[in-house]
Amino acid sequence: MLTDAHNRIINYIRLAVTDRCNLRCTYCMPEQMQFLQRQELLTNDEILTLLRPLAAAGIDKLRITGGEPFLRKDLLPLLTSLKTFIPEISITTNGVLTQPYIPQLKAIGIRKINLSLDTLQRDRFQQITKRDQFPAVMQTLNSLLEHDMQVKLNVVIMGGVNTDELQAFAELTKQMPLSVRFIEEMPFNGQGHAFSGNQWHYLRMLDALQEYYTLKKLPIQPQATSINYQIPGYQGQIGVIPAYSRTFCGTCNRLRITPTGGLKTCLYGGDVLNVRDLLRSGAGSALILQEIRHALGHRAENGFEAERQNQHWDSMSVIGG
Ligand code: GTP
Ligand code: 5AD
Ligand code: SF4
Repeated sequence: MLTDAHNRIINYIRLAVTDRCNLRCTYCMPEQMQFLQRQELLTNDEILTLLRPLAAAGIDKLRITGGEPFLRKDLLPLLTSLKTFIPEISITTNGVLTQPYIPQLKAIGIRKINLSLDTLQRDRFQQITKRDQFPAVMQTLNSLLEHDMQVKLNVVIMGGVNTDELQAFAELTKQMPLSVRFIEEMPFNGQGHAFSGNQWHYLRMLDALQEYYTLKKLPIQPQATSINYQIPGYQGQIGVIPAYSRTFCGTCNRLRITPTGGLKTCLYGGDVLNVRDLLRSGAGSALILQEIRHALGHRAENGFEAERQNQHWDSMSVIGG
């Protein structure tokens, strides 16, 4: 079992398989992005060598993030191998390239997909992402539901950009059995000082929704990032994610691995170890596990403490969401 300095059990890894993305969401990365060289990324073999002992030590949940995971050419073979020893694998994707892979994902046993989508308007999608890919994402969404996948929509709420769409997103849950989550914006846009502070606190989102709906609160899921509600009579759920307010740190069960093998014990913290360098220097599983346990022994108590210890904000695409 893996535990941290505050007696929290760690059973969940978020692995960013690439920093590359085919969109340029303003809250995530600048238009001109310097991407990593391929040899800087963890290879599939390195990922498997790293994750096998971690699974044996109690990691039973893995989320694949990026960048955009489906830009990685050897993603499907990686997922197939990982699924043989990690029971729950889920993916966070922007949906541009995802649709053709859905039957294969289902065959491998991956059913949970989180789709990033911040607007339901094509022209606004292009403004936010700098690419005209709204139709492809909507095709992916419809296809996911047709294939009975468990879908969560991640909607980053940005003041002056998409706050007028809270109701339109909530209305999706009337007919669609999906979960729409409204996320507080965080400072990880790769532009350092350009974050003007989150003006849309999750309570403000709830107030805005309650102007239209009577929300029924759903039972709290331990270790979840979202607080979930249902609109009576609607098929799906809506949720708010206090990603900047960080109300869920107390039960955080997650570790992050960046595309270059950086280990993060908190989203708001820096890399505390590089497992790629350890692997490439010939370190065996026992030493790597020992180093990871050591890092967990120094883990900050919450995102605020981690933030105080960190020097700068990377783009979310190199942190891995
Ligand atoms: P589920 O397991 O499906 O609930 O996924 P998730 O909410 O953990 O993952 P997802 O990749 O969909 O992330 C949704 C939002 O929550 C994103 O904006 C994430 O960056 C944010 N988030 C995920 N984990 C953390 C965390 O540990 N701390 C903070 N502050 N935000 C997080
Ligand atoms: N603030 C909040 N959420 C963000 N994401 C990416 N950048 C940010 C940010 N600056 C979200 C994406 C994706 C998830 C992994 O993280 O929308 O769904
Ligand atoms: Fe790409 Fe996701 Fe970042 Fe948008 S949020 S630029 S889709 S990695």
